[in-house]
Amino acid sequence: MQTTVLNEGDLGSAIDWLRQGEVVAFPTETVYGLGADGLDAVACAKIFEVKGRPSDNPLILHVLGVDGLEQFTRGPVPALARALTNAFWPGPLTIVLPSNREVPSIVRAGLDTVAIRAPAHPVARTLIEALGHPVAAPSANRSGRPSPTTAQAVLDDLNGRIRYIVDGGQTLVGVESTVVDCTTQPLTLLRPGGLSLEMITSVVGEVQLSNSEGPARSPGMKYRHYAPKAPVIWIQSRDRDFVRKTLDALQREYGTIALASPEPLGLKVNGGIVSLGPDETSAAHRLFYALRQLDSDAPSAIAVVWDSNQGIGRAVANRVEKAAAGRVVAP
Ligand code: TXA
Ligand code: MG
Repeated sequence: MQTTVLNEGDLGSAIDWLRQGEVVAFPTETVYGLGADGLDAVACAKIFEVKGRPSDNPLILHVLGVDGLEQFTRGPVPALARALTNAFWPGPLTIVLPSNREVPSIVRAGLDTVAIRAPAHPVARTLIEALGHPVAAPSANRSGRPSPTTAQAVLDDLNGRIRYIVDGGQTLVGVESTVVDCTTQPLTLLRPGGLSLEMITSVVGEVQLSNSEGPARSPGMKYRHYAPKAPVIWIQSRDRDFVRKTLDALQREYGTIALASPEPLGLKVNGGIVSLGPDETSAAHRLFYALRQLDSDAPSAIAVVWDSNQGIGRAVANRVEKAAAGRVVAP
């Protein structure tokens, strides 16, 4: 299948293709999504096939607003879920609630809950509105790879596997939405993301962190994730001397080391360098792009310097942790 990249002002063929029960990659404010008609089980099966996604990992239903939450969940929407959506939708927040029967089982991966989010990006909203159904969409990467934040990154992973990619430029947030389970008391943070934990607790009070030792409540979090081809090493410090010594040791052990680090850099390595910028927001915006960019030179390993859990920094730390899969160097 030939893959065509569409301009974001030219959505007609993408809409027709979705209406025919096919999949389209499109920008959201977090990362690019791989969407299909969320009420069409056959269309949604194509998402799993294109991504190589395990069938026990459920999809997020993208809706326009709170009406969508009411329409696809069972029972009254709990007050705290309503408070969160009133405060933060449309935006990078996904709510998990008991599902109703209209949502195909394949979207929920057989669970009796459903994950729902109202994206803010105009392209995503236009597609949902034109389809007249929610759009089921995971991130538009091949399963296990860093999520795509540009149309080129989608193309790198899915060229020849999908018909259309809508190009909306580089995504604003850069990490995926925050997933909050609203079936528990207190609410549970299943995946840190583009909306910070601090913002969430400012509206709903206490939120519990999901226990990664326990049963996988957010099935997606148990898989190898966000990984470029080169192994990723997480340097959990910003101390100049410690980072310098660690990079020297890694170069001796691995060979070519590429580096992603916050500014000020002042660091040299024998491979490529991408800056994560001055703060948590810039790091989130650039992280997945940096991993893909550094990987394109085929280094022996990629070192990522990151030590913050503040705000959206929690999502950055979480994605680096997953990408590093246990390769962590701490002082
Ligand atoms: O920002 C985002 O959320 C992007 C854009 C495209 O909207 N989408 C995204 O989807 O990141 P995906 O499939 O890559 O991640 C969805 C996450 C997974 O960790 C999945 O396990 C979890 O949401 N999830 C989906 N349905 C769930 C449910 N019923 N219960 C618990 N977790 C669920
Ligand atoms: Mg994903």
